[in-house]
Amino acid sequence: MNLFDVYPLYNITPVKAQDCTITDENGIDYLDLYGGHGVISIGHTQPHYVAKLKNQLDKIGFYSNAIQNPLQVELARKLGKLSGLDDYTLFLCSSGAEANENALKLASFHNNKSRVIAFDNSFHGRTSAAVAVTDNKKIVAPINAQQVVTFLPLNAIELVEAELKKGDVSSVIIEGIQGVGGLDQGTTEFFQGLEKICATYDVVLILDEVQSGYGRSGKFFAHQHHNIKADIICIAKGMGNGFPIGGILIAPKFKASYGLLGTTFGGNHLACAAAIAVLDVIESEKLMDNVNAIYAYFLEAMKQVPEVIQVKGRGLMLGVAFNFDVSGLRKKMITDKHIFTGNANNKNLLRILPPLTINKEDIDTFIIALKESLKEVN
Ligand SMILES: Cc1ncc(COP(=O)(O)O)c(C=O)c1O
Repeated sequence: MNLFDVYPLYNITPVKAQDCTITDENGIDYLDLYGGHGVISIGHTQPHYVAKLKNQLDKIGFYSNAIQNPLQVELARKLGKLSGLDDYTLFLCSSGAEANENALKLASFHNNKSRVIAFDNSFHGRTSAAVAVTDNKKIVAPINAQQVVTFLPLNAIELVEAELKKGDVSSVIIEGIQGVGGLDQGTTEFFQGLEKICATYDVVLILDEVQSGYGRSGKFFAHQHHNIKADIICIAKGMGNGFPIGGILIAPKFKASYGLLGTTFGGNHLACAAAIAVLDVIESEKLMDNVNAIYAYFLEAMKQVPEVIQVKGRGLMLGVAFNFDVSGLRKKMITDKHIFTGNANNKNLLRILPPLTINKEDIDTFIIALKESLKEVN
């Protein structure tokens, strides 16, 4: 059997990885400034994480959500403490799209409405409702098009309010910082406006923190930079450092009832062990402090590269903007300089999503390689 050919692949075969370094089958080391789509949070094969997973595997790897699982309780307690959202409850699932799917569904159960407001250039995943609220026609199949979604530009609060006034909007879904779309973000005024009008019109405010959460922005959640509280927060990516796990944090006003949401794999023992290890390391290694220090260093360092017209995003969720299509530059960085970066819908952006453990020397390596590569591509 062959693989269904949906991914264009680089001809690189990683066989091992440690912290921010990936090694391929030929023994070549690559600096990982992309974390496999922003998934690697505490570094590849982090020792505490590996030990926790191995240890859990020796005990019990999986059972369904029909039994007591104290690991889920421990995870929820630690997550509440680190995020500062102790009074929220946690529903566990296995991916970012599934988190968003459950958030949109819970919102609709809650207020018995169905239309959703989403934003231009958004990305929320590939499942039914999640892809319908994603602003990319190419990945929306006819079966997904039944969802009623209104896309609006970011930061136009009066346009959002005009829609909410109509009375049929169930939820507003917004990324803490846009990832795939190109690192744009709402202003503080906009986020605070959303919080206010969602409360006024009985609309659920869903913060998709699948990529921007888990310390990546320098606070636990990116929307916390704007001093607001969301009704539902969606998480995945950095949560498991590569082990598939996602979830939603649910504000106290939502009432749970048996059977309302469910999943076979969500919150299994192994996934919880991975997620607990991630929180342990974020806390003990003070990774959010590292994110803020490296962000400041990165912004300073970028001033040495005149071709860079802007650094978008925040923390270690960054887009380095040029005034030309960077596909060739990105390819050169991988093949010649052995540095992984990412792309975005905006072709002029190099996306930087390294493990949160990255250090200043790694940034120096990147800057030198970037300068050399820019000379070569021009
Ligand atoms: C903001 C955001 N939401 C949701 C998703 C979907 O997550 P997953 O691929 O785990 O389903 C992604 C993935 O890139 C994302 O960036």
